[in-house]
Amino acid sequence: MAKIIDGKLVSKSIRESLAQEVALLKEQGIFPKLAVILVGNDPASAVYVRNKEKACLETGIEPQQITLPEETNENELLTLIERLNEDDSVHGILVQLPLPRHISEEKVIDSIDPSKDVDAFTHESVGRIVEGKYTFLPCTPAGIMRLLEHYEVDISGKECVVVGRSNIVGKPMALLLLNASGTVTVCHSKTRNLSEVTSRADIIVVAVGRANFLKADMVKDGAVVIDVGINRLDNGKLCGDVEFEEVSKKASLITPVPGGVGPMTITMLMKNTVFAAKKNIL
Ligand code: GUN
Repeated sequence: MAKIIDGKLVSKSIRESLAQEVALLKEQGIFPKLAVILVGNDPASAVYVRNKEKACLETGIEPQQITLPEETNENELLTLIERLNEDDSVHGILVQLPLPRHISEEKVIDSIDPSKDVDAFTHESVGRIVEGKYTFLPCTPAGIMRLLEHYEVDISGKECVVVGRSNIVGKPMALLLLNASGTVTVCHSKTRNLSEVTSRADIIVVAVGRANFLKADMVKDGAVVIDVGINRLDNGKLCGDVEFEEVSKKASLITPVPGGVGPMTITMLMKNTVFAAKKNIL
């Protein structure tokens, strides 16, 4: 039976030490501030943004929430980001995705000053991650690496399988595992014999957004299983991409949903914001 990875607990201790760091920064006249831009009326995005704001308040970071109507045009958004880039009181800038379809996400994200790119989504941040010379790490993969570290999972030389190739999770996750000397395979919807590949893994990260996608017969005994999915079932319950009940009988360590990766993502955003605020004194 697997040991359950407690993302809430790890997250809580990191947030507590961040809060102490923020208090010290304030004594030195630095007041960490995160600008969070939400465009339009996507209900899930509104919840994510509210949670980010709550986490800011909990750690002593000032959230500057900017909510814009669905009809906002690309130029208006670019002008706003330019203003925030130049505002020395703002240390981090986050544009909640998805943006309305008439706005280019790529153009908007890439207009963020890389020194304030706390999501690590700009081309410069991604390039730095590829080379292993990063300033910021994307929050979900960074949170997973922290969990693996906390539970003393050795990555070097291990077979690591990432299922999902999104720019936000799958691809950067693969790079971080590779930077930690894992032997990394990335699977996706066109992968043949998926079970054969996942069954080889010492560490599996699943980020496909499909409820109960990873079954027990796709996992080897003793594997470490990390579930990034957050899916809402018809009965209203949340569930991950991993069939938790059965897979936890075979895995050595497993993240639950909720309470696994989720809390770590926002905590890493707070960590990146504190790091951005400290850059002037480093
Ligand atoms: N939408 C879904 N996940 C994320 C995230 O991590 N950051 C931003 N900015 N938008 C998202």
